[in-house]
Amino acid sequence: MPDTSAAPHARVSGVDITDVHINGVERPGDELQIDWSDGLSSHLYALWLRDHCQMPESRDPDSGQRFLNVTDIPEDCAIASAQVTADGGLDVVFQPEGHRSLFTADWLRAHCYCLNGPYDDRSEAAKRLWAGPGDFPDGLPVVPYADFAADPKARLKALRALRSVGFALLTGVPAEDGMVLRVIDRVGYLRETNYGRLFDVRAVEKPTNLAYTNLGLGAHTDNPYRDPVPGVQMLHCLVNQAGGGESVLVDGFKAAAILRADHPEAFDRLARTPVNFRYADDRADLVSRATMIEVGPRGRVRTVRFNNRSIAPLRLAPAEVRPFYAAYRAFAAILERPDLKLTRRLDPGDLVMFDNTRVLHARTAITQGGARHLQGAYSDLDGLFSTLAVLERRTAP
Ligand SMILES: [Fe+2]
Repeated sequence: MPDTSAAPHARVSGVDITDVHINGVERPGDELQIDWSDGLSSHLYALWLRDHCQMPESRDPDSGQRFLNVTDIPEDCAIASAQVTADGGLDVVFQPEGHRSLFTADWLRAHCYCLNGPYDDRSEAAKRLWAGPGDFPDGLPVVPYADFAADPKARLKALRALRSVGFALLTGVPAEDGMVLRVIDRVGYLRETNYGRLFDVRAVEKPTNLAYTNLGLGAHTDNPYRDPVPGVQMLHCLVNQAGGGESVLVDGFKAAAILRADHPEAFDRLARTPVNFRYADDRADLVSRATMIEVGPRGRVRTVRFNNRSIAPLRLAPAEVRPFYAAYRAFAAILERPDLKLTRRLDPGDLVMFDNTRVLHARTAITQGGARHLQGAYSDLDGLFSTLAVLERRTAP
């Protein structure tokens, strides 16, 4: 039976459950109690279990999608009987419907909400935070493009790094126009913006963005004025004959964690004060009102937005202006700490990809003449996670 909520597996929360089986079942109150052979128990609410029925009457066998709305299930849903089947699963009959469901032991164990905590895979809790090069004793996550393109395991290495530490570097990407789009096709889906399918980063006269100058750029995330922001950014170096212009990365989740530890009041203020981000030119006027630090429902950081260039006039309650600036300055100071920075010169063929909801990037000033040309493009995190899930399914032992 297809189940679109999780890939079939026998490994849950890092524990191999291949050998775990159901010892017995009971029906206390409106729950089903499952006693497992490893001594643990599951207590599953009858309505939850009925809602998750895997039978073809409840779900489309091809897509795995539910036919039922929760209101189709009687509110007084209860378990009339439950028996262990010959293959070790459960045969459950619900009342008052008299509806019968079969569940495998693997499915019940993998999805039991008593034995598996709530999902928190998008926040800092699921990431490896880092503070500069010292946190990469085995070197930075670097994958040659030839391997990335040909070998799913090499692609997995790069994309897992992008998920876990927030960035990965490809080397030897042909320094050709548009190659960044070819790389995005192997990671997720292109996010086209008002800058086009891709954008060229090089100094121009009358720039619409300070990125297109020789100025240094402080640590920032791109495009906080979009809602939602692009989740993944790629920068591909085609030409670099200039002096300076080194690329810098900073882990925004680590910086937020430092702010929370050292200045908890500042952290709380940035997490609850919407900022007025804006980008405007002749053809676009993009605005968002979003916090610099965004925490998820479990209180953990899941997005950092920081871009001094695109903060439009702030409209805060008068009493909030001073404490907001104190918090903003405290966070900005952490983000510019030299010890938190990873610095690397991008040479032709280098492509850096990073999680734009977490990792800030910066550029030192371009100090000597000479051509410098990067091409950038955006993608999103859902496409990255989808590609990773499919690759992990296909390369599973
Ligand atoms: Fe940028």
